[in-house]
Amino acid sequence: MRSFQTAFTRPILETYQSGVMSYTYKGVRCLKSPVDISIYMRLIWDLKPRSLFEIGSHSGGSALLFADILGNMGCPDTPVISIDLEIPQDIEDDRIRFLKGNVLDLASLFDAHKLDALPHPWFVIEDSAHSYSGCMAALTLFAERMAPGDMLAVEDGVLDDLGMSAKYDGGPNRAISDFVSSHAESFEIATHLCDMFGVNATYNPNGYLRKV
Ligand SMILES: C[S@@+](CC[C@H](N)C(=O)[O-])C[C@H]1O[C@@H](n2cnc3c(N)ncnc32)[C@H](O)[C@@H]1O
Repeated sequence: MRSFQTAFTRPILETYQSGVMSYTYKGVRCLKSPVDISIYMRLIWDLKPRSLFEIGSHSGGSALLFADILGNMGCPDTPVISIDLEIPQDIEDDRIRFLKGNVLDLASLFDAHKLDALPHPWFVIEDSAHSYSGCMAALTLFAERMAPGDMLAVEDGVLDDLGMSAKYDGGPNRAISDFVSSHAESFEIATHLCDMFGVNATYNPNGYLRKV
């Protein structure tokens, strides 16, 4: 398994992280690393997803950003399905379906809203609880439903480099490591995305996964 250390040094991360946490898109909070916004744009152009799932809506800024990127990349009809424990109240946008749900119980949400029927390719972004169990729950559910070629990003393994992963029981990096080891024949790390700006110069080290 590749190292999960990002290319960011601790002093850089301290200021970079405060920028990420205060960033807004169209006036709405959007907690995205700018490097990863670039990687997402490239991924979406290459994949041309027909369905995009985001777990962790927060204020809805990232769902808005994804809807705009999809429109700009030739996928204006691709729905953004954005899931959170609470739905943002201030955003009405025909391109986005905000659904109330828990990452630990996505199966019932899939059944209730017939999400299995959404067309592939899928692009899935897990950006919710960041706990080991939450990441594993999302990875396990989507692994069974994704088709070859579909992509999944697990956000914020950078928590390790920020010294915060113990609080998340190992968080995204421990989950990715266990998941990729146990799914070596069906998932691969998309290193061309993780390493686009330097080896794991991303908030999502080894976090861009492709179903093969
Ligand atoms: C980091 S924020 C999401 C940021 C957003 N994607 C963005 O880029 O702006 C994490 C979100 O996950 C949600 N969350 C936390 N635990 C969750 C769970 N068990 N199931 C679903 N969502 C959860 C929180 O309510 C919070 O809004």
